[in-house]
Amino acid sequence: MLRRFKDCCPPRAAGADRDESAPGRESGAGTLAGAVSRRGFLKRAGASGLAAAAPLAGARRASAASPDGTPEQIHLTWGDDPATSVVISWASLAQAINPRVRFGSSPAREHTAHAVQRSYTDGLNGETVFTYHARLERLAPGTTFHYSVTADNDSNKAAPFGATFRTAPRGRAPFRWTSYGDLATPNTAWVLSSPQSQYAVQAVERFQPLFHLLNGDLCYANLNPAHQPEVWRDFGNNNQASAANRPWMPCLGNHECEFNNGAQGFTSYLSRYALPENGTPFPGRWYSFRVGPVLFISLDADDVVYQDGAAFVSGPAFLVPAASTGNGPIAPGTSFYIRGYSKGAQTRWLEKTLQEARRDDDVEWIVVQMHQDALTSSKTGNGSDKGIREAWLPLFDRYGVDLVLCGHDHDYERSWPVRGVNHNAGRDAITGAVVDTLQPKPVITEAPAGGKFDTSRGTIHFILGGGGTSAPLDVYGVDTANGAPQAKVFTRANRPVQGAAPGSFVRLPADAVEDAIWSARRDPSTGYGIAVFDYDPGQPGGHSSITISYYHAPGADQKATPDYQLFETIVLEKRGRAE
Ligand SMILES: [Fe+2]
Ligand SMILES: [Fe+2]
Repeated sequence: MLRRFKDCCPPRAAGADRDESAPGRESGAGTLAGAVSRRGFLKRAGASGLAAAAPLAGARRASAASPDGTPEQIHLTWGDDPATSVVISWASLAQAINPRVRFGSSPAREHTAHAVQRSYTDGLNGETVFTYHARLERLAPGTTFHYSVTADNDSNKAAPFGATFRTAPRGRAPFRWTSYGDLATPNTAWVLSSPQSQYAVQAVERFQPLFHLLNGDLCYANLNPAHQPEVWRDFGNNNQASAANRPWMPCLGNHECEFNNGAQGFTSYLSRYALPENGTPFPGRWYSFRVGPVLFISLDADDVVYQDGAAFVSGPAFLVPAASTGNGPIAPGTSFYIRGYSKGAQTRWLEKTLQEARRDDDVEWIVVQMHQDALTSSKTGNGSDKGIREAWLPLFDRYGVDLVLCGHDHDYERSWPVRGVNHNAGRDAITGAVVDTLQPKPVITEAPAGGKFDTSRGTIHFILGGGGTSAPLDVYGVDTANGAPQAKVFTRANRPVQGAAPGSFVRLPADAVEDAIWSARRDPSTGYGIAVFDYDPGQPGGHSSITISYYHAPGADQKATPDYQLFETIVLEKRGRAE
């Protein structure tokens, strides 16, 4: 069934403002005593107002008859250097004994890597989650490795799960990556999940990229607050079909922020993903890595956006955590708003990373991934956010970022290359008064001569929010006065306000609009798709290029489909980076 509502404001979403409980714990394998605690969210019915957002019927439950250390939710991420290091991660329903990976480039040269455990207890339903991370270092570049994952209490120990992956090439060699966000799970018992998410995982495998960028809103566990660990489990077991074969590099979205799970609500995410170091007090929230001459930077836009779009209790009932958590009821109208949490640390890290890239002659291209959007003109979705325009667009301009890949609005949109802004070009959405939305300025508004884009002149933004949710948002804004694209823009925080129903609260939509003079292409036929990026180094001393093909899934808004078809292709080409 098609449900259309905004990403930020689903009916009866959940949320709160506190967090200190249940920080993730990391330990050497097998050193953490404990058993799987039983879910204790029995107070849920009729007490939290979340019954509709947290359905029980038909949901696959995490409680196996005899939970053990059998690996599941297996996925890869790059280590600090994708040419030589990969992390193999997984979870098990009970604590694993001696969790480990066997790996090698040939059967004659096998090695064992022992895994580190990270566990946490969900701050809403009290379930304890066990995850494992085996770091493989000093691998040969551009080489295929096979591996298997097991533990002493793995019920498949006789024939453990195995797969292969390939390390990144060294130097200037062709490679492919793919991207989308907003994936969800195939279990339709969960809010925002859809069978399309299974086809979306298959789509990655169809294109056989070196790695995949998953640009936020991974599974929407925070919209199913009584069952967050089970939603993560369905997500992990779904994407294992691809993520066990190639790294899936994620970024944080607003739906990774969960009540009572850490200072920013990210404990579930941070326990499951081992990501490259960023050298700040905020590991895992943002990072960068290099594949050949392409620098990838993954950011957490929750830190800078104005939009209040994370965990939220709409009321009128309280959200009541399981008694075992020791956490108190969360009042209606509470939202988990984390704008500014790093106090500028992320932006300082971003500028330092970009400065270093500028000094490095080997870096030809810079690709940024984040979840929320600086340039989107979805009408049914969230809208653009001035917070990103203020904090990061000037840095993208100054240091010549080529591409920005986002999700959040569940559709497809491509901007013209943009550089700089127009001031006072927006209007208040209600009063019509002039508002400074920092309207991005396109450097061209027609297809380039020769057909190839020069991103040394401006940054192209993509919205790739068409993973697999049940809520496509592919209706786009139009200025009724002139028929031109129009965008909604958050220029201030939309904190909860009293709703129409007694004791209920809502978060208002974006407060401003502007002409989307920067919008080059939108896909009104479906909200689902996958972007495929092919880097080609070209001839020595010549131009290098990135060919971008977007494949969409017509009909998926009505019925899930495995049929992804080419929507458009563009080519970026340049000799060296912008100065
Ligand atoms: Fe989303
Ligand atoms: Fe989102």
